[in-house]
Amino acid sequence: MGMTAVHARSSRSVLGIAGEPIERWRSILEHASQITASTDLVGRLVATAFFEDSTRTRTSFTIAAGRLGATVVDLSVGSSSANKGESIVDTARTLAAMGVEALVVRSALAGLPGVIAQELPELVVINAGDGRHEHPTQALGDALTIAEATDCPSFDLSNRRVAIIGDVGASRVARSNVALLTGLGASVVCAGPPTLVPRTLEGLGCEVCWSMDDAIDGADIVMMLRIQFERQTAGQRAIASRRAYRSAFGMTEERAHRLEEHVLIMHPGPTNRGLEIDPSVADGPRSLIKQQVTNGVRARMAVLAACLSG
Ligand code: NCD
Repeated sequence: MGMTAVHARSSRSVLGIAGEPIERWRSILEHASQITASTDLVGRLVATAFFEDSTRTRTSFTIAAGRLGATVVDLSVGSSSANKGESIVDTARTLAAMGVEALVVRSALAGLPGVIAQELPELVVINAGDGRHEHPTQALGDALTIAEATDCPSFDLSNRRVAIIGDVGASRVARSNVALLTGLGASVVCAGPPTLVPRTLEGLGCEVCWSMDDAIDGADIVMMLRIQFERQTAGQRAIASRRAYRSAFGMTEERAHRLEEHVLIMHPGPTNRGLEIDPSVADGPRSLIKQQVTNGVRARMAVLAACLSG
């Protein structure tokens, strides 16, 4: 039944920020801001299935689940039956039959977590990044970081302006962040070369700009994105010249110097150091990169707690 599946989906699984009531995310953020280690999920089974490379997101989910006492089964995809032709949905069904209640999925296929959730309404599916679509838990950790760093304890970001710079078109982090940050009231501008930042991104509710210097003028937060070289196809290079890109769209030491004193810099990682961000800026006093990683764990704890409660 379509309606039932949609209802189950929107009440339990975390597939994307867009299209869900902002109150759902606000209450997860409120919980994340004060969450501590507990035994709340002892005896509960969570599985991670990453069909795409990841270090921080996978580790972060494993640590988050562990802090709540849950047991984590890590499906190392290289040795799973996915290689024997079993469909991912069948694999998920097998895990559910063994008592796995939540499945954390990363895939290059946009929409795959939603398909699994639709097929298996009894399973909580958490999207850990699907193609160019969404990466909701990254955005939750980032919103927590912004709220704490800019002193917005109630998650009302209506006086905050965020500039997202770089390979926005290929970025699920950007899509989730635009949805969440604008939902919380922030104004968001995305900037990069027109080849990476199509005008159509305005449909997400952000401004689009092709000059980094214009975009960062007036921003409180500048979120840099990695150029996703692995998403370029043969003969289709993401950028023509690293040097030209860095000078037009890189957070160089010189550009960071020109920012107003209160402006903070973010990057979801992994970084192409010296390309979209200079190492001295990534490690410098304006950088929130470490907080983003730490808060990613807190946000994922709150997501797991919300999904598995009741
Ligand atoms: C991001 C991702 O995988 O989408 N990384 C992450 O989860 N921290 C961004 C990226 O790969 O550039």
